[in-house]
Amino acid sequence: MRRPMVAGNWKMHGTRASVAELIEGLANLALPGGVVDVAVFPPSLHVSLVVDCLEGQSISVGAQNCAHQAGQGALTGEVSSTQLADAGCKFVLVGHSERRQIMGESNEVLNRKFEAVQAAGLTPILCIGETLEERKAGKTLEVVGQQLDSIIEELGIGAFVNAVVAYEPVWAIGTGLTASPEQAQEVHAAIRAQLMKENSEVAQGVRLLYGGSVKAANAVELFGMPDIDGGLIGGASLNADEFGAIIRAAGN
Ligand code: PGA
Repeated sequence: MRRPMVAGNWKMHGTRASVAELIEGLANLALPGGVVDVAVFPPSLHVSLVVDCLEGQSISVGAQNCAHQAGQGALTGEVSSTQLADAGCKFVLVGHSERRQIMGESNEVLNRKFEAVQAAGLTPILCIGETLEERKAGKTLEVVGQQLDSIIEELGIGAFVNAVVAYEPVWAIGTGLTASPEQAQEVHAAIRAQLMKENSEVAQGVRLLYGGSVKAANAVELFGMPDIDGGLIGGASLNADEFGAIIRAAGN
């Protein structure tokens, strides 16, 4: 049985004051005990603050990005997976569409980031998804398949023993448009089938999260699909009560 996971991607939001308020809200949530893994992904600037404030809570902390190499070194402006681990992170997002599209991160760079995350003992959450043009052109499974294949070819199927995959259709991120449960399930099933071709045990164990305008109002239906093991939540994770309702939906 795969334990559901709900991850909150705060993106470039928050001040010290608003982060403290959000954490207080999270700490006061009545969360289903031991049935859902919950993690929040603050901007790296706020990681230490969030780790400290969540001490003793069953909510993990992750980072939204890291350098393409682990350890320490001459890389001005970067933060490594090793430093994130030292700060108390457990997960790192790799290949969010905003980084692929706006920051121009290629599959080659993302392969190295994925590897660097695991080298530091952390778990990568690999984000993959198609644009609206690609979906309209009937290329969804091809595009998602290539993004996944890049990691499989470079690092092997074994790399997915300690990894999570998030399917996030680019057209659904921050737009209020959500993939229907059936549309999302179709892609999730294809992702699992692709992993299954390499190793069925690994494929059965990997958690596949859906992301893209998930809210409390649509979470139950999405999380009810057989290959959707939880969600990667952007906007709705900035509201503790809404995020709590999404977590409860994953626990049911
Ligand atoms: P959204 O973002 O929930 O605001 O659509 C999801 C994400 O980008 O991870």
